[in-house]
Amino acid sequence: MKKGGIVELELTGLAAEGKAFGKLEGKVIFVPFGHPGDVVRVRLLKVKSSFCEGIILEWVQRSEDRVEPKCGHFGHCGGCKWQHVAYESQIQAKQQQVIDQLERIGGLEFPQAQPILGSPSPWEYRNKLDFSFSTGRWLTAEQIKSQEQFPQEGACGFHVPGRFDKVLEIDHCWLMGSEVNQIRNLVKTKARARGWNFYHPYQHVGHLRNLVFRSNKKGDLLIWVIVGPDAESSLMEFLTEIAAEIQDRHRIVYSINSKKNDALHDLEVQTFRGEAFITETLGEVSYSISPQSFFQTNPVQAEIMYRTVQQLAGLTGTERVYDLYCGTGSIALFLASQASFVLGIEYVQEAVNDAFLNAKRNGIEHVDFLAGDMKMLLNGETVQKYGLPDVVVVDPPRAGMHEDVIHRLLEIKAKILIYVSCNPATQARDLALLSPGYRIDVVQPIDMFPHTHHVENIVRLTLVE
Ligand SMILES: C[S@@+](CC[C@H](N)C(=O)[O-])C[C@H]1O[C@@H](n2cnc3c(N)ncnc32)[C@H](O)[C@@H]1O
Repeated sequence: MKKGGIVELELTGLAAEGKAFGKLEGKVIFVPFGHPGDVVRVRLLKVKSSFCEGIILEWVQRSEDRVEPKCGHFGHCGGCKWQHVAYESQIQAKQQQVIDQLERIGGLEFPQAQPILGSPSPWEYRNKLDFSFSTGRWLTAEQIKSQEQFPQEGACGFHVPGRFDKVLEIDHCWLMGSEVNQIRNLVKTKARARGWNFYHPYQHVGHLRNLVFRSNKKGDLLIWVIVGPDAESSLMEFLTEIAAEIQDRHRIVYSINSKKNDALHDLEVQTFRGEAFITETLGEVSYSISPQSFFQTNPVQAEIMYRTVQQLAGLTGTERVYDLYCGTGSIALFLASQASFVLGIEYVQEAVNDAFLNAKRNGIEHVDFLAGDMKMLLNGETVQKYGLPDVVVVDPPRAGMHEDVIHRLLEIKAKILIYVSCNPATQARDLALLSPGYRIDVVQPIDMFPHTHHVENIVRLTLVE
């Protein structure tokens, strides 16, 4: 087998990174967009001693279990890469992925994993999407072959993975409701009608740059229009025109981005209609989410996840809880009604500011939040000030926890430790390091992102006395 070579094989499984795989001559071969049961001809792009990566040139036989992808952009857009896999099979693959990683990476012993909590709505589940406008339109191989003429102004949609200058035109994205698609297309049409240009990624000129939507479970929208300085003089007129065609309950904010980069977190946000945040309710807590703040992107599953954490924590009202890597304090506030005190620790100061604001808005006083690096803040001084916790919840980023934090947790010896993870591989590594002091007693996978390979996993550990 050599790079550039073509092989034929049957695919037999789905791998952790979302690709399908099959085996040939003792090597595992990974390909995107395959399905177990497919027989495919593959061009090898990477050949290593134990595995290869390739692309499918042709299907010799398609698995009977494949399903028709719902989205017209499937195969071109960077998201929703598992649409050809039935949702039930997706979540079974995720369940197996969690078990495999805990066993293989962590070498861990644990009771049988709970059945994965699938998303009740596998479509239109997101509460946030960020569309880009660019003069650099990405044309698919089929579009190039068709020799059709495409509009000159560029595209409004999502960046093609790895290409800051190329955007795939999106007609309909199934991750948010149809109103979002209508409004995006309305903004595009109105901009064209007034001769506005999309942003040029090299010349740094143009009117429209980004359009960000946030929603809540009730269907309210916060629409954030980001333009370049070229649009400043006619922006109010443009927004008035747009607002006239959008339901009054939807809020509209805007920013003028005169930077060369597309980062949104440092932009000044101005209000055009309504307040500059959207409110979401999970459990009994109401969270105010501003355009730039972090919030779980699948609110229905976030509520299920937080309830699961609450049940696993077994709180009775007397416990002291630490919520580590707390983001905007969502878990801390969710648990507060059943705890005597909750401390949240988080790296990002702005997220901690949001956590304080949300605590205040909900009248929750028995919480505190600290901003800084976990390995510095989770120290003897903090524990002395706030007291030893009975329950610790950790929800670290994909990289998992720093070893120093794990050692500190082993010293703190909370009776219950709940580890929420968006990366079961690093979770397995960390759990192995925790194993001298803790025993795993519940493993609960949960699917927050249907049609992607991402899986969240909640593990409850109890202290080994
Ligand atoms: C998965 S998110 C937590 C989300 C939160 N629990 C929620 O449900 O909204 C992980 C958080 O860890 C924070 N973080 C990353 N590295 C950190 C560190 N070294 N110290 C403290 N917080 C950190 C990130 O800023 C992020 O907010």
